Amino acid sequence: MAGRLSVSIPLVIAFNDPMREMAPIRAELDAALARVLDSGWLVLGDELAHFENEFAEFLEGGHVAGVANGSDALELALRAIDIGPDDTVINVANAGGYASTAILACRAHPIFVDVDPDTGLIDPEQLEGETMASARAIIITHLYGQMANMPALAEWAQTTNTRIVEDCAQAHGARMAGRSAGAWGDIAAFSFYPTKNLGALGDAGAVCSANKALIERVRCLRQYGWGEKYVHEYAGGRNSRLDEIQAACLRARLPGLRAANQRRRLIGRRYQNEINNPLIAVPNRRDDGSDVYHLYPVRCRQRQALMEHLRKESIQTAIHYPLPDHQQPAWKDRDHVPKLPHTEIRATEILSLPLNSALTEPEIDHVIDACNRFQA
Ligand SMILES: Cc1ncc(COP(=O)(O)O)c(C=O)c1O
Repeated sequence: MAGRLSVSIPLVIAFNDPMREMAPIRAELDAALARVLDSGWLVLGDELAHFENEFAEFLEGGHVAGVANGSDALELALRAIDIGPDDTVINVANAGGYASTAILACRAHPIFVDVDPDTGLIDPEQLEGETMASARAIIITHLYGQMANMPALAEWAQTTNTRIVEDCAQAHGARMAGRSAGAWGDIAAFSFYPTKNLGALGDAGAVCSANKALIERVRCLRQYGWGEKYVHEYAGGRNSRLDEIQAACLRARLPGLRAANQRRRLIGRRYQNEINNPLIAVPNRRDDGSDVYHLYPVRCRQRQALMEHLRKESIQTAIHYPLPDHQQPAWKDRDHVPKLPHTEIRATEILSLPLNSALTEPEIDHVIDACNRFQA
């Protein structure tokens, strides 16, 4: 097969390659770091204030509080809307456990719902019944870069008086019906872990909301719960500050986010159109701008064999995620085993192909070609 391994393909096609994604803006990153060093101000300064404003502008409104990472963003968002002991919070079990960790940290209880078998997203049809209607909040994870059905979910939440927390850690820049991911719910959490569509040079996160009072509260919670210095106004606070170096780096990367997302879409579209092996099910992803292709899991009944085949072809893959939350050793509840058939089957079949904005055309060709040559 001509051109299968061209000289421009690196030894291994890396699953993630943030340094390569950042290489084109190295000068901007150097300038951002120099700005922080020259300012002599390292924490809670101008860079963070500017980034918060610029990210709010990117989301087309609302308010933003930078925090230390996406996990804190979820937990502090829940605390800001007063989720506490004995509250119940609806959540999916296939999104890596981050939301469950946040719910449990608030000493609240997750109620797991099953997902759509094709997309892996929360399925609004599963939200029937008294248990669901009596939950205080729902965490909606826009998984893999795809937005959940927000019009239907927002209507359900309004009818049942349930607060919405959007988990946008995988959906920076996704939009649906003219509104950004993060602008639909009461409050939203973002992660800027280096491999995210918008990544920092280390850990970083943010909480966003149209409600200024909620964001003011997060600003207190991210600094020990202080109202004024040394006065613990709110319980549940901690140190979760986003430092100036990370804020400056995020400011350098933000202007390129829409273009990087567009590049991811083009790669995803190529996978969808060109992987045609009957043993590999490619997802049917929306092509309306509501998907920013953070991850690209295909489904394969012979997943282990496919993974091994791709490894031999020098293609790294990953599983997002192999063990659903309700089956995790720390959280298993033998008395209440939820029925989540789609979640459980998907966990045994999904395999994420490399998809990042730095992949070259020969690399994409090679991934497609290798998938198409896979045999049982
Ligand atoms: C969906 C989702 N939520 C939350 C998080 C947590 O973010 P962080 O790793 O920044 O704590 C992640 C990150 O991996 C994520 O993918």
